[in-house]
Amino acid sequence: MAVEEEYKTQSQKVAAYYDEWQEKYNAVYGNIIQAFRPGNADALMEYIAQSIGAKQGQQIIDAGCGIGGPATWLAENKGVQVNGVTISAKQVSEANEYIKSKGLTDKVKIEQGDYHEMGSRFENGKYDGVLFLESLGHSGNPAVAIKEAAKLIKPGGFVYIKDFYRKTPDNAQQQARIDKVIDNINRLYSYNCLDLNNTIDALRKEGLEIDYIRKFGFKDDIGIRFEFESRYGIDIFGGEPEFTPAEWLEIRCIKPEFL
Ligand SMILES: C[S@@+](CC[C@H](N)C(=O)[O-])C[C@H]1O[C@@H](n2cnc3c(N)ncnc32)[C@H](O)[C@@H]1O
Repeated sequence: MAVEEEYKTQSQKVAAYYDEWQEKYNAVYGNIIQAFRPGNADALMEYIAQSIGAKQGQQIIDAGCGIGGPATWLAENKGVQVNGVTISAKQVSEANEYIKSKGLTDKVKIEQGDYHEMGSRFENGKYDGVLFLESLGHSGNPAVAIKEAAKLIKPGGFVYIKDFYRKTPDNAQQQARIDKVIDNINRLYSYNCLDLNNTIDALRKEGLEIDYIRKFGFKDDIGIRFEFESRYGIDIFGGEPEFTPAEWLEIRCIKPEFL
């Protein structure tokens, strides 16, 4: 299968998913569509800003930007200039209305597109960083998305990924249990749960150096996710007792100044 076909089918599914579900997300999540979070959205964004080292005047690409909540927050609170791309046309029109209402059209620009092709959409070697905030896990081919991200950043620039990774226990029975729940997540959220080793491999193949891979320094408040899933009848555990099938991590890596 051609590389484009590997991701395009999945990207089309994701576009249709958010076009259909965005209103439901709005009703529960507001403008930051992230499941792993402290209860307070400002606290989440303050944490991410610290993690990425957000600074006044930085130019950042938000790959999989939703309706522009994080991009707008970073522009408003940290003086960052953000270009966002999302595969969903519905999200783009909502994002643009929101940015306009905030008077931030000169600082935040959002367009429809596939982050697997963003290397030909934005100027290469220009950006301070690329963000994937709970977006890379939708990818049909994460290595391609990472390759495109690496093209966009300047030497010293970063790629930051916030997502979850399937656990790998040491016995087949546990593995089957985990796989079943992850399959449900993938189907119900149009996801394609990431593999940690493959992700690290893809980053390093692009010459990026790992700055850190770590657990988040806040406690996950499951209230919002719980509200979303119970309101819309989403049952990822298929009626079985809940457990933790995946690990949430933040990864930051850097394009070295000298190769
Ligand atoms: C869970 S939402 C997160 C949105 C946003 N990062 C936030 O924090 O509010 C996932 C986002 O990834 C985007 N996405 C998924 N696959 C994509 C692709 N191939 N190209 C562009 N955007 C994509 C979706 O359209 C959606 O906006």
